[in-house]
Amino acid sequence: MRKEKNYFFKVFALVVDNKLRLALMPIYFIFSSILDLISIGLIGSYIGFIVDKNFIDNEKFFLFLNFWSSIINVSNNIIAIGILLVAIFFIKAILSIFIHRQIIKFSHITQANLRHVLMNAYQNMKYSEYLKRDSSEYIAAVGTLVKNYGGGLTACIQFIGDLIITIVIAGLLIIVSGTYLLFLSVALILIIFLYKLFFLDNLDEYGKKLNFSYGQMYQSISEYFYGFKELKILNSFNSFEKKIMSSTKQIAKSDIRQSFVTTIPRFLLELILIIFITSIVTFATINNQDIELLLPTISIFAAASLRLVPIANQFTKYIGAFKYSEDSVNQLYYDLEKYSSSDLGHKQDIHKISDNFIEMDLCGVNFTYDKQKNYLLKNVNLKISKGSAIAISGPSGSGKTTILNLILGLINPEKGKILYNKEHLRFNIDRWRSQVAYIPQETFLINDSIRANIALGINSNEIDDKKIQECLEKVHLKDFVKNLKNGIETNVSERGLSISGGQRQRIAFARAFYFNRNIFILDEPTSSIDQATEAEIIDYLTELKGSKTIIIISHKLDSIKFCDYIYEIKDNSLKLKIK
Ligand SMILES: Nc1ncnc2c1ncn2[C@@H]1O[C@H](COP(=O)(O)OP(=O)(O)O)[C@@H](O)[C@H]1O
Ligand SMILES: [Mg+2]
Repeated sequence: MRKEKNYFFKVFALVVDNKLRLALMPIYFIFSSILDLISIGLIGSYIGFIVDKNFIDNEKFFLFLNFWSSIINVSNNIIAIGILLVAIFFIKAILSIFIHRQIIKFSHITQANLRHVLMNAYQNMKYSEYLKRDSSEYIAAVGTLVKNYGGGLTACIQFIGDLIITIVIAGLLIIVSGTYLLFLSVALILIIFLYKLFFLDNLDEYGKKLNFSYGQMYQSISEYFYGFKELKILNSFNSFEKKIMSSTKQIAKSDIRQSFVTTIPRFLLELILIIFITSIVTFATINNQDIELLLPTISIFAAASLRLVPIANQFTKYIGAFKYSEDSVNQLYYDLEKYSSSDLGHKQDIHKISDNFIEMDLCGVNFTYDKQKNYLLKNVNLKISKGSAIAISGPSGSGKTTILNLILGLINPEKGKILYNKEHLRFNIDRWRSQVAYIPQETFLINDSIRANIALGINSNEIDDKKIQECLEKVHLKDFVKNLKNGIETNVSERGLSISGGQRQRIAFARAFYFNRNIFILDEPTSSIDQATEAEIIDYLTELKGSKTIIIISHKLDSIKFCDYIYEIKDNSLKLKIK
């Protein structure tokens, strides 16, 4: 993974929206650190007060406390300082809760926005890019990576907040006693260094392992259920189970490690603190100093430590969280940078385009998936005019689907050109696609009603039901649907409702009609259905011939007899076989 940009930069760059809310955070933090400052100072003078009633007047460095006490004009009133202390801690508690809520809210809203932007970015992916990864990787990216990123983002914001508080408190401690602060800092830095050395360095490895394992787990689970029927009959769930178990174990291992590593510092810090305070006292006793005079200073340090120890503890957690989420942040940043094109805004609604297809030309098209190897397709020439029916045949693996992908504009030719109405297809892709229906071997159905499957991707309240009925009639599914208990609202994957291959195929046709497509591109539409249904589909296509442009792939010559032109792939090129 590329690492040229800083982690923080990437984390904040991935805040795709809501930047104003982010800008408000430092203001909260500054306000809250001022409250911390006052409360710690107050504790010092409170203790000083208990020891010596003239404490405030004597101590020059509690200037702001003098200021406070003069305001309430109770310079010798221990009760007043007590009340003030409680009040400030009360406000501090409320403010802390508020800030905490803001951070959590911000992180979650950002995750939601990021998921949206990510989905949009993936839409812009070239088809050939898309194919490079397994679909489970995309699921993991939108799901887990974003969640891990959210953890990193929360840590970043809290880190900045705690840093501000630490700097402010350190400022106070310098004023109170620079020597003590130096002593404490050296001890703390030492501890953090040792901790990092022994525990932290391999935490980013664990983050990487975690993401990898999540990807594997999702992949195995999706395969497990996708192939449920085959696996059940073969009774071979075994290797899938093993894979799922091994990835979940790795996930558990990484998570345990992370939780363990991040809880250690608290104990170390407490230890440092107690060593620090006893050292001061011991040192003062040895040097015959008056401990009573030291008491306010010690109490300020103790109060500051009370505040700083959890923060220092948090810091190590933050570093852990940064490392842990680094891999996710890098992957997300990489994907967004690569795939979110700036023209996202201009993305037009393809359904609103109306264009008139006249002809498509493939002129001397060469294509290869693997640049090291020979061309899969060489010098392919093909002319498709409006209303014609064209078939492409050839043995399996000869490149039939590849030609369709070229025609669909999903992949681009290496050499030669594809023209749509005499213009480059690449620049007219939306106009072309707005007219095309693609009907593959296996119709893509979603877990929803017949209605939603026909008007695929249209919001339920925007579906034109009259048109749905017309489409059902055109594809001869009207009676079938009428006899279902829930009619067009029947879920296609409902138990008891078995939709046959032919019916699936006809839903695909109905979909094409619903979207007013007049160019039908079919990739072996009859290869997974029985002969009777095949004959029915062929009859149906023959019926459509003339009114629709049809491009069909099949290796069964019988099923493409109805076409005007039949081409065959031979020696990596296209030859006209029958006219
Ligand atoms: N995304 C891909 N990446 C690399 N090779 C591919 C890809 N898709 C198909 N191929 C290869 O290209 C050849 C033609 O594939 P395809 O067009 O699907 O054949 P057909 O549809 O005629 O069966 C096959 O050898 C196949 O392995
Ligand atoms: Mg194929």
